[in-house]
Order: sequence, then structure tokens, then C-alpha cells
Amino acid sequence: MLRLFVGIALPPELKLRLSLLCSGVPGARWVDPGNYHLTLRFIGEVDEGLAGDIDQALVKIRAPRFQVTLAGVGRFSDRMLWVGVDKSPPLAHLRDKVESALVRLGLEPETRRYAPHVTLARLRNAGEAKLQSFLAEHALFRADSFEVAQFSLVASYLTKGGAIYEDQADYPLG
Ligand code: 2AM
Repeated sequence: MLRLFVGIALPPELKLRLSLLCSGVPGARWVDPGNYHLTLRFIGEVDEGLAGDIDQALVKIRAPRFQVTLAGVGRFSDRMLWVGVDKSPPLAHLRDKVESALVRLGLEPETRRYAPHVTLARLRNAGEAKLQSFLAEHALFRADSFEVAQFSLVASYLTKGGAIYEDQADYPLG
């Protein structure tokens, strides 16, 4: 079995910029900068046969390349901290194409609204005051835009030392 997701890699200089945000919240388990990515669609555990079918379906997706900008920070309840993404119709369009390709293969539709983000930290008993000040301090965070010229199928291995991501295939955008 493989635990898969579809995502977009970030340029190294952007990962460096994001890593500089990561301090000041005791109880935060900061994501390793090498693991920063933008998830398009979490898939979960599938067998090798279905993984091959998913790859075949993703290869057929045609969509234009586009620019995106990471901006703002936020939280999902008291579980995680993230950097947001400026509203991006081409990103939503690509996500919709990936979603329909997967649903055509028989995967369960994703019912949650797509909220693009890059996870910076997972939280365990982080103090509310420190969380608030992190969010206030970085509210105006804005990175240079970057070009999304491909997306990827990624395997996630959960280990005691954290998740290890392994690129399975890259799919170029036009
Ligand atoms: P994230 O995008 O919020 O960081 C691999 O696990 C990636 O898929 C992670 O980046 C993770 O969260 C995202 N993801 C989305 N839904 C998930 C789920 N139900 N379980 C695990 N990871 C999920």
C-alpha cells in the first residue's frame, strides 16, 4: 500500500523564506522545510494497482502553468499553523481537474472545501497567547509569487521522526 497525495512543490528560496517564520510558539512541531508543499488533493492509502491508475489519470490532465503567491498566516483550530495562498482561479481549476480525474477512477469525492495552504506547524498544547501573537506578527506576510509549472504525485511515509515524502511522478503544466 502507498499513502499518496497530489501536491505542488515550492522553490527552495521560498522554503527558506517560510522557515524564517517558524519560531516563537512553544508546543509547535515545526514542519521540516524540506517537506513544505501545497497539497492539491490528499488521497490516502491505495494499493499499487490503483496507484498506477491514478498516475495514468494524472498524466492526461492538461492545464496551463500559472503564478501563485503565498500570503497571510492562519490556523486550523488549535491543531495547525499555515501560510495561505492568494486567491488563484488557475489553482482552483487544476485542483478541480485532479478531483474529477480521481472521482472518475472511483475514489470517494473530497467533501471538504478546498482551502489551499502550506502547513508550517502541527500544534500540541500551544499557548493561546503565543499563537495569537504569531498570527498578528505575520498577518502581513507576503512572499514573491512563483510559477507552478508542474504538479506531483507524492508518497507519504509516516515515521517516528515525522513524515517522509517521496515524489512518485511529476506532471508538467502547459
Ligand atoms: P496539509 O496539506 O494540511 O499539510 C500529506 O499527508 C499531506 O496531505 C499533508 O500535507 C496533509 O495536510 C494533507 N492532507 C490533507 N488531508 C489529509 C488527511 N485527511 N490526512 C492526512 N493528510 C492530509
